[in-house]
Amino acid sequence: MKALVLSGGKGTRLRPLTYTIPKQLVPVANEPILGYVFGHIRDAGIKEVGVVVSPESQEDVRAYLGKGNRWGVKVRYILQPEPLGLAHAVKTARPFLGDSSFVMYLGDNLLAQGIREFMEDFLAGDADALIFLKEVDNPKAFGVAVLDKQGNIVRLVEKPKKPPSNLALVGVYFFSPRIHDAIDSISPSARGELEITDAIQGLMRSGGTVKGQVLDEWWLDTGKKDDFLAANTVVLDGYVKRSVEGKADAKSRVDGRVQLDKTARVTNSHIRGPVVIGKRCTIVDSFIGPYTTIGHGTRVVNSAIEHSVILDGCLIANIPRLEDSLIGRKARVVREETNHSKALRLLIGDANVVEV
Ligand code: TTP
Repeated sequence: MKALVLSGGKGTRLRPLTYTIPKQLVPVANEPILGYVFGHIRDAGIKEVGVVVSPESQEDVRAYLGKGNRWGVKVRYILQPEPLGLAHAVKTARPFLGDSSFVMYLGDNLLAQGIREFMEDFLAGDADALIFLKEVDNPKAFGVAVLDKQGNIVRLVEKPKKPPSNLALVGVYFFSPRIHDAIDSISPSARGELEITDAIQGLMRSGGTVKGQVLDEWWLDTGKKDDFLAANTVVLDGYVKRSVEGKADAKSRVDGRVQLDKTARVTNSHIRGPVVIGKRCTIVDSFIGPYTTIGHGTRVVNSAIEHSVILDGCLIANIPRLEDSLIGRKARVVREETNHSKALRLLIGDANVVEV
């Protein structure tokens, strides 16, 4: 069994962050999403991992994953020159995959559950594909599957107007090598991509068995700002244990499940978990409220922040209340104390969003 992690794509929905950082490396609770993906692959005992990268993502992805030593796996990079679809990514990876069965894991998906148990079921059975599914409230936004009583997928529809079920396709798929013939027989869709759903339908038409596995724990596609904040909330809820290694002075309070890096400093501030505060952060005269992640090297002064993700190297100063916000690296969000007028002075990059 090999793993194929998809880490190319355009990431248009998470702009402007994705102008400077591939979507799969945007951190949730200060760990890039790919770190969680690789954790699951390691826990499943898979040793050979192909990582599909784009010309834009390859440098950063290589810098983070390296040869895979941190997870005890061997990484092979596969360059997909253009994001021509998930099935195209598999086609590009064919020399790496050979005749092996494999799990395809989308590099921007976060799952609460690991994949080991499902991989073992797949290997023990005779299905040609096993696809993870999750009940969702808005199936119109997803690829949707219909299952029969035996758990076989009988139909797949991409973003249906009238959804035949509420079971959305999650970004994890197990395939036998039969998927390659199915991919060879499809053509690009209306949006110009080789769709994995078309290949799976082809596999079913040619008599292949495709099983669905409905997940009972959470799954998040981190593609957009609100999904991303939801991912941060869920991960902080589920994973963060209290670990206050950094120094908080006598005038500060650190309540609940707070991870304070040993190089971080808190002065005259109140931190109420779940919160993660990264390396070399300074928090002065501030309140950091539940469900907030503060990236490495960020400074927060005289401000209150809640339910937000502030990435690395930022300065937040004199902001009475910042919430539901996602702030990219090295951003400065500052209210000058001498500014008594209502004027805003902004230097905003492309595709940013400012709600005042
Ligand atoms: P998507 O989120 O469907 O596509 P995208 O990354 O282009 O994002 P957006 O819609 O915001 O522009 O991709 C799912 C995952 O698969 C993601 O990790 C990127 C990866 N991918 C590839 O590696 N190659 C591809 O050709 C495509 C379409 C996606």
